Amino acid sequence: MLSGEKMYRGGMNEQWDVIVLGAGGAGMMCAATAARRGRRTLALDHGDKLGRKILISGGGRCNFTNIGAGPANYYSDNEHFAKSALARYTSRDFLGLVEKHGIPYYEKKLGQLFCRDSAQSIVELLRAECEESGAEIRLQTKIEDVELMPEGSSHRFLVKTNKGNLEAESVVIATGGLSIPKIGATEIGYKLARKFGLAVTRLDAALVSLSMPPEFLSRFAEISGVSIDTKATVRDKTFRENILFTHQGLSGPAILQLSLHWFPKDPIFLDLSPDVPMEEFFLSRKREGSRRTMKTLFTERFTERLGEKLFQEFGVPEVPVMEVADATLKKIAAGLHRWELYPLCDGGYGKAEVTRGGVATGELSSKTLEAKKVPGLFCVGEVVDVTGWLGGYNFQWAWASGVAAGSSV
Ligand code: FDA
Repeated sequence: MLSGEKMYRGGMNEQWDVIVLGAGGAGMMCAATAARRGRRTLALDHGDKLGRKILISGGGRCNFTNIGAGPANYYSDNEHFAKSALARYTSRDFLGLVEKHGIPYYEKKLGQLFCRDSAQSIVELLRAECEESGAEIRLQTKIEDVELMPEGSSHRFLVKTNKGNLEAESVVIATGGLSIPKIGATEIGYKLARKFGLAVTRLDAALVSLSMPPEFLSRFAEISGVSIDTKATVRDKTFRENILFTHQGLSGPAILQLSLHWFPKDPIFLDLSPDVPMEEFFLSRKREGSRRTMKTLFTERFTERLGEKLFQEFGVPEVPVMEVADATLKKIAAGLHRWELYPLCDGGYGKAEVTRGGVATGELSSKTLEAKKVPGLFCVGEVVDVTGWLGGYNFQWAWASGVAAGSSV
């Protein structure tokens, strides 16, 4: 409807009701919602292809929501902030949209819903929603700056792009986080927020592998590729999933989840045997009078390669289990249930799925995502200090926050 239509009102700049900065998941959802309310809406993105992050998500199948998504699945300085938007647009609502568009999906595990065929269908869903509602999307348009129009003119924003200047009553920052710069992530959203006087919390790469110190790598890099089911803990958060040994340190879903709550210098604790109590494992074999050596028991319990490494790591005597004192067995068992490690750093934005932190929640209305200090300026999606666990939670926040702002812009 609006495509190509020129809307000059007085000045030289194109005029819109709403300009959404960034046409990722949150931006497109917001644009479609706003346009359905009759707002003349334009979404801008510097990519030459729509939804690049959606396309690479979930291994190309996009884990587009989690049926259990609730505020407890998010990290934020204010754990209550996401409640309102998540309650008003739930995973069931998005699932309704997926079904309306006839997209086949399946639950992989733990409430995680994936496209059966390809993430492309989610991009097409969002494109269709924008088209149907009349929201225009312009690609290859780099947002360079946003200013409030000079005093005297009504409260409007000037959006400066490489393709010229535009004006709008409302501007939505939906430019995402810093992860994966090679597919278009930039810091523009945080820069603009700061420019308008909004605080931005500490930013870190999250949902990412953790690099381990050289001493650890000299012992464990050799078993890179080995994975094991663990209960992994950092601070007061515990996740039960696999960890993976890598050439740089540790990865796998449990580590990615931990990384959301890990800060430099924090220890992490790995329970390497969440189902089998190791004390009983050793003591029962000792009681049976087993002549098997401790090393054999380790490789039996943890596979050849990992068992051998753990055997060395925990300084276990290389003797039959029946010769080891109960107290020593108990100590070894306790160590295996609580292996304390000190990661060196996170794996960086080049690999991270998300950025932890963002525009401080105290600056925004939790209902509309509008900046309290700057009427007409909204922030949605990953640029906000609301970061979800691995498992479809980040997209659910993108949809829910996009709808919340789109209903109000
Ligand atoms: P998003 O980053 O999607 O969009 C921001 C847009 O702004 C981009 O299109 C960018 O091009 C544009 N932009 C930035 N700077 C600009 C500028 N200066 N000018 C113009 N445009 C600009 N989550 C999940 O729930 N399930 C999953 O399966 C996955 N999988 C996954 C895999 C990988 C590899 C990554 C990196 C991430 C995930 N995620 C995920 C996280 C999820 O992709 C992410 O949280 C959302 O895409 C965030 O949506 P936004 O719309 O906020 O930002």
